[in-house]
Amino acid sequence: MKTKLKIAAGVLAVTAITVGLFAFGNKDANDPTKIKVEGEMVAELTPPPFVPKPVGNRAATKLIVNMEIKEQEGEMADGVKYTYWTFGGSVPGSFIRTRIGDEVQFHLKNHPDNKLPHNIDLHAVTGPGGGATSSLVAPGHEKVFNFKCLNPGLYVYHCATAPVGMHIANGMYGLILVEPEGGLPPVDKEYYIMQGDFYTKGAYGEQGSQPFDMEKAVKEQPDYVVFNGKVGSLTGDKAITAKKGETVRIYMGNGGPNIVSSFHVIGEIFDKVHIEGGSLINKDVQTTLVPAGGSAIVEFKVDVPGTFILVDHSIFRAFNKGALGMLKVEGEQDKTIYSGTVQEGIYLPEGGTIQKMPKENGDGKAAAAKSLPEKIKAGKEIYGRTCFACHQSEGQGIPNAFPPLAKSDFLNADPKRAINAVLHGLTGEITVNGKKYNSVMTSQNLTDEEISNVLTYVYNSWGNNKTEVTAAMVKAGRSTPAKKTKDIHE
Ligand code: CU
Repeated sequence: MKTKLKIAAGVLAVTAITVGLFAFGNKDANDPTKIKVEGEMVAELTPPPFVPKPVGNRAATKLIVNMEIKEQEGEMADGVKYTYWTFGGSVPGSFIRTRIGDEVQFHLKNHPDNKLPHNIDLHAVTGPGGGATSSLVAPGHEKVFNFKCLNPGLYVYHCATAPVGMHIANGMYGLILVEPEGGLPPVDKEYYIMQGDFYTKGAYGEQGSQPFDMEKAVKEQPDYVVFNGKVGSLTGDKAITAKKGETVRIYMGNGGPNIVSSFHVIGEIFDKVHIEGGSLINKDVQTTLVPAGGSAIVEFKVDVPGTFILVDHSIFRAFNKGALGMLKVEGEQDKTIYSGTVQEGIYLPEGGTIQKMPKENGDGKAAAAKSLPEKIKAGKEIYGRTCFACHQSEGQGIPNAFPPLAKSDFLNADPKRAINAVLHGLTGEITVNGKKYNSVMTSQNLTDEEISNVLTYVYNSWGNNKTEVTAAMVKAGRSTPAKKTKDIHE
């Protein structure tokens, strides 16, 4: 495509010389290599989910980009620490916004506290290694290289220092946008999101500092698939927002290193998609494929209020590995477009419980070593990972779907029944505090100690009867065959 464009431009130039006309600059408008730059400016860089201001009508310029690499510890999920390698201190790295014809002078600094050399390959670059061959930089040093933006589009950049996969897997990627002449059409809200897959020694949710796992990375078996570097980067009070009637544009990239994204917004349809971040626009799209090392620009008008869930529609990744974000739209209902009672909390992260590798059943010794307050503290953490989505933060449950755990007559009447439900699951109609519920609770893959802790937390919270559940009680429950609800009632 690029080659053809250059050949076409060459023919045009030859024609112009032959004819001896077109002395007025305009003839070069189609040849980006001929665009003259005016002045010089320092590029605004932003961390996700934000983007710098649009280029608008500004002329092509000499654009100075100052990017510093930082190796720093962050949080992959609650209680899970991970050492990220970053462009500019965030994952994904700082967003760079340019226009066609810009001559970028790229300054890549490697922070003196870092341990490793790094470089940068920008897919927007026409030149060897996308800049990687000119930018290998040791800690405490800086490298400078220059390139001209020849093709409009949304491009991934990443580190390309060996082991390349490991540098990318640790978060070394970001997006650079090259806007066309005059800029992209204005919209109301613009956001920056990148998906990435992460490989940790421990399984999803395993607490503490988690080192990178090369073997899982080579096998392409991520523990985490997330937006913007961590679980929950775009949920709750970190959700992106818009008002009803606004048009939202998302610059969506995929750093990989391995996993392709089936990007989808639950409850919305993309009015426009710049396929693969290029100039071809598709309309009325439900799910768009974002390749590893690729991107898409999606745009949609939000017509009704609510919480819209951003996912990788390879759906276990969304609910169990972290690839779930939220767009909160405020405004008046429009019943001609959508009506119905709206129950919040239908789409919430479910955590890694079901994908955790089965552990040896606890033997109760560790549990005996914990004091009651310690068990409650540990149990609260497990509750946040495992039970919270259905039973909610204060044990209030979800009306008509999931029964409350707070002041629950069902729980307080019989701890064995509670242990049984956690161990073996619970299906069919039950009555809790006078209300009937008929849904499914799956069995939870937790150790005896974890179950004793989480149930002790529940029993010691929200007005329950302060039962202390021991690991030995849970162990006894394991040998009891799974009961049907009917039996449990009796
Ligand atoms: Cu690197």
